[in-house]
Amino acid sequence: MKGKILALLKKSDEYVSGEWLSKEMGVSRTAIWKHINYLRQEGYKIESVPRLGYKILHIPDKLYAEEIYSLLTTNFIGKKIYHYNHLTSTNDQLKKLADEGKGEGTVVVAEQQTAGKGRLGRSWFSPPGAGIWCSVLLRPTVSPAHAPKLTLLGAVAVAEGIEKYTGLQPGIKWPNDLLVEGKKVCGLLTEMRAEVDSINYVTLGFGINIKLVDFPEEVKGKAITLEGVLGKKLNRVGLLACILNAFEKNYLLFLSKGFSPIRGKWEELNVTLGKMVTVTSHSGTVSGEAVALGDGGGLVVRTDGDELKEFLSGEVTL
Ligand code: BTN
Repeated sequence: MKGKILALLKKSDEYVSGEWLSKEMGVSRTAIWKHINYLRQEGYKIESVPRLGYKILHIPDKLYAEEIYSLLTTNFIGKKIYHYNHLTSTNDQLKKLADEGKGEGTVVVAEQQTAGKGRLGRSWFSPPGAGIWCSVLLRPTVSPAHAPKLTLLGAVAVAEGIEKYTGLQPGIKWPNDLLVEGKKVCGLLTEMRAEVDSINYVTLGFGINIKLVDFPEEVKGKAITLEGVLGKKLNRVGLLACILNAFEKNYLLFLSKGFSPIRGKWEELNVTLGKMVTVTSHSGTVSGEAVALGDGGGLVVRTDGDELKEFLSGEVTL
C-alpha cells in the first residue's frame, strides 16, 4: 500500500487527487488520507491542496524498504527488507528473523547500530544515518567449509555496487575490507549457524562509511567515507539497491559456476596479493609476502623464513 501510493505520487509532477488515488488503489479516500499521514510521520513532505490533491515535495534520507524495492532488479535478494531506526546490530536482528524461518535474501537495515560488531571481536562505529548498516540472509546448500568464500563474494558484490553507483573502484584487502585511497570504507562480517556438514544459514553483514563523521580515536586515520572522497552527497538508497543487485548476480554465479569466477573478480580487485604484509592471528604475528588466495579463501603468505603459511582468519597490515 505504502509503496503503491508513493509510486503513484512520484510518477506525477502534478497534484494527484485523493479520488483518483482511491480508485487506482481500490480503497476509500479516508484510507488514502490515513496513509498520506503515515508517510508524513515518516518524514515525507506531502503537500495537499483542496480540489487539486496531493503532491510529494520531499523524500526523507532514510533507507526505507519501499524506496529500495523500487530500484531492485533482483528475484530474491532484498525482496523482503526490514528497516529499523536503531538496532544493536543488523546481524543479530537478522539471526532472530532467520531462526523464525525467514527466507533466503531477507535483508535487515538500520539507520543506527548501538552495538555494531566488527571482525575479531571489535566494535563497528555505526552512527545514525551516516552509513549503510545492512545484513543479508543466505541459505546456501554447501558445507560450512565454503563459508569464508561467501564473505569474499560479499566483498566483491559491495565493491561492484560502489563502483557502479559512484565510479570509485574500492580495493579489497584480505579478507574483505574495502579500501579507497588506502583507507577503510567498508567492512564485512559473516556469521553462520551450521551443523558439522551443512549450513543452516549465513548472515552476511556489511557496513559502509558514507557521511563525514568524527571517527573514534582507534580508527581515525584508517577509515574514510564515500562522501568525503567524492566531495558530494550520496543517495544511500540508490547505492544500497545497486549493491543488492550486484549481490544477487554474484551469488547466483557462485551457486551455478562455483567459486572460480568470484575468485577471479576478487583477485582482480584485491590490493593484498604480491605485497609484503604482516598478519596478526590467534597464533601470533607473521610477516612475509602475500602470494595467493588459498582454495578455501585463506591467505597464503611466504614467510621471511621462506615457508608457505595459510591463514584462514586474521588481520592484515599492508
Ligand atoms: C569489520 O571490518 O570488522 C567488519 C565490520 C562489519 C560491520 C557490519 S555493519 C552491519 C553488520 N552488523 C554488524 O553488527 N556488523 C556488520
